[in-house]
Amino acid sequence: MMRLDKLISHSTVFTRSQTGKLIRKGLIKVNGKVIKKSAYKILPDDHVHYLGIEINQAKKRYIMLYKPKDVVCATSDREHKTVLDLLFISNRKKLHIAGRLDIDTTGLVLITDDGQWSHRITSPKHKQAKIYRVSLTEAITTEAIQSLRQGILLKGEKKPTLATEVTKLNNTTLLLTLNEGRYHQIKRMLTAVGYHVIALHRQQIGTIRLDPNLSTGEWRELNQREINLNG
Ligand code: URA
Repeated sequence: MMRLDKLISHSTVFTRSQTGKLIRKGLIKVNGKVIKKSAYKILPDDHVHYLGIEINQAKKRYIMLYKPKDVVCATSDREHKTVLDLLFISNRKKLHIAGRLDIDTTGLVLITDDGQWSHRITSPKHKQAKIYRVSLTEAITTEAIQSLRQGILLKGEKKPTLATEVTKLNNTTLLLTLNEGRYHQIKRMLTAVGYHVIALHRQQIGTIRLDPNLSTGEWRELNQREINLNG
């Protein structure tokens, strides 16, 4: 459900205050009836008309991108290409990134204009597991893996953090699952146990996996199952 004035200003060139005036003047009809209340709640199947022209409810957008190295997770940047620069679609300015990656990290980035949905992705409360492939310069010990699982107090922080799952793929490569997204979290966790990360790749967020058909720099829209976040 969305307020009538919000729906019109989102879906047309009219500002919220211009929209308010149109509504008060009786120029807006919902399902054939004049509605003069800006706060009137619109359901997904309602038909809204302005002077006989239907206003389609702007559809929310949900995108997965395979982020390459040297591209920043920001909406604008003076020096580097941004993830939004890789999307050749209209109205890119309305999009935001649901969980950033460092400039040298590759893999799955989710981009949307749905603030509630991105909150579900990024808020630790919702515990959406993020799975990373981590490459190290040296072979990792069982003790270090144990510390990652048990929890580590990062420099300057009060609450310890842990990896909810750690799988050793080979001596220098791990699959690591996190339920949070603190600043440089994986690099700092590995530094804390004495290792250096040389490559980091995000392959999954919740039930959304990076599509193996995407090459680095490519993107696609999410399907309904992915948007629903329940597999
Ligand atoms: N942890 C990091 O250190 N960097 C990332 O980009 C993501 C998680």
